[in-house]
Amino acid sequence: MQRTLVIFKPDCVQRRLVGQILQRFEAKGLRIAALKMIQVSKELGEQHYAEHKERPFFPGLIRFITGGPVVVAVIAGPEAVAVVRGMMGKTSGIEAAPGTIRGDFSVSKQNNLIHGSDSPESAAREIALWFQPEEILDYDLAG
Ligand code: CMP
Repeated sequence: MQRTLVIFKPDCVQRRLVGQILQRFEAKGLRIAALKMIQVSKELGEQHYAEHKERPFFPGLIRFITGGPVVVAVIAGPEAVAVVRGMMGKTSGIEAAPGTIRGDFSVSKQNNLIHGSDSPESAAREIALWFQPEEILDYDLAG
């Protein structure tokens, strides 16, 4: 069982797509281990996207991610990092394949609806940034 961080970005909330996209993860067989809606602070946005600090799109990205509430989740399951990334599709909605979340719902490089951790190491860092340990639940789905 692996965990990954998923952010339903402000464009996803504004377009009322959160439920539909979360449903894809549940239907796939992944599980919700944590879920909350928050307004992202500039500080949290900058910490989350620290690796992009020198990129020209960084200031716009911070304005975007702090521009409205997000829903943030810990999604768990076998190879959850790779499974979620495959379901999301390429970063740019223009390049993302039909059938993927971004391929089906986005034509933007920035407003690409969701974020998913890119490696198990990133997932561990990002989950610790967004959630307290007691907010993440392990439970039995049998039956
Ligand atoms: P995400 O997977 O959250 O990781 C970094 C984010 O930066 C990415 O999704 C996009 O929202 C944004 N991004 C990446 N490349 C570009 C770009 N060329 N122009 C604008 N935003 C970008």
